Amino acid sequence: MKQNLAINGGQKTIDKIFPWPIFDETEVNTVADIVRSGKWGNPDCGDLVKAFEDEYAAFCGTKYALTCVNGSVALRLALIAIGVKPGDEVIVPPYTFITTSSIVLETNCIPVFVDIDPDTYNLDPDKIEAAITNRTKAIIPVHFAGQACDMDKIMAIAKKHNIRVIEDACHGHGAEYKGRKLGSIGDAGCFSFQSSKNLTSGEGGMVITNDEKLYDMMNSLRNVGRVKGGQWYEHHNLGCNYRITQLQVVLLANQLKRLEEQTKRRHDNGTYLNTLLEKIDGIKPLARGMGETIHSYHIYIFRYDKTKFNNLPKSEFAQMLAAEGVPCFMGYPQPLYKQPLFQEKNFMCYAIPEEADYTKVSCPVTEKACYEEAVWIMQHAMLGTKEDMEKFAQAIIKIQKATKE
Ligand SMILES: Cc1ncc(COP(=O)(O)O)c(C=O)c1O
Repeated sequence: MKQNLAINGGQKTIDKIFPWPIFDETEVNTVADIVRSGKWGNPDCGDLVKAFEDEYAAFCGTKYALTCVNGSVALRLALIAIGVKPGDEVIVPPYTFITTSSIVLETNCIPVFVDIDPDTYNLDPDKIEAAITNRTKAIIPVHFAGQACDMDKIMAIAKKHNIRVIEDACHGHGAEYKGRKLGSIGDAGCFSFQSSKNLTSGEGGMVITNDEKLYDMMNSLRNVGRVKGGQWYEHHNLGCNYRITQLQVVLLANQLKRLEEQTKRRHDNGTYLNTLLEKIDGIKPLARGMGETIHSYHIYIFRYDKTKFNNLPKSEFAQMLAAEGVPCFMGYPQPLYKQPLFQEKNFMCYAIPEEADYTKVSCPVTEKACYEEAVWIMQHAMLGTKEDMEKFAQAIIKIQKATKE
């Protein structure tokens, strides 16, 4: 039967809205209560802020949790608190959101890109040691899409070379590695609560740690350099106002109640979708079983091979799939180091040494992921039903058939 693709006016394979964020009158009422109370802000790290931080720390199994304005600032607080100095190097993957690397520049340090593993799209632990120099201060493994990095290997390398580990768990709320919550394994773990994230208050961030010294320093940096026991107009450290509001934390506290069930649903759907997509010639889900015990599927990523789709470029395939009703797109179109920021070294006032030259960086696995291979289905779609997952697979098969006609 001739395929009538939705992009050409045919019927969509799936015609359904996947709502996000998910909330009800509970969220509305708790926010309204805060509005009525007049206690909107967080001048003294308000009661509800601390209560939510304690709840999140307990959820992650760490001693401390500290809210802040967003995930980028969470990374910034952690980096400064571990004591980076200008010119220090920080290892990052090139397949991630810009601020995992740009925040390193903002602390006057040098991001060093290490390629990703072709099967997980996470930092390739076997490539890290070759990038370590006597200036390497930290590694920022990103649990990309909600899939745990190989933390045993990363922590062993860090220990051997006396390097700190800051986990970028901005995609990994509720996800686990060998039974431990992502973010709780390294020196610090950072989360984003931006609108698209699996736990959201529109904007917001969190750092978790077991290290009291780090916590105290991050707390000071968040609160314009004030210190525990100090006076209101007494500023010891170069911080800023990075505080969250009470309006945000009451939303987060309600959303956290939903997280466990939602994470399980995404995890189960992702596992099921893997079994369906594995059967399609030219489609390869990312690997599982690399230590992750719960995958949060902030993104469901699969690898596309255009040679099995009559050489249809990835970008066109992703557009066709989106038109079929699958909430997807082609993901990052290029590796981070190809951004004008790095190629042109538009580092403004930041003191990055001359020898940092990103025009020579080459990470072939990341380039293949960006240019040819990776297609992303977004997290809210992974909250659908089993039948929805089947339709996602059917939509891909429909496109494949159409390319062969
Ligand atoms: C992997 C990763 N790290 C860091 C961030 C930064 O978080 P935020 O947008 O809250 O600053 C994001 C946000 O998209 C992200 O995806």
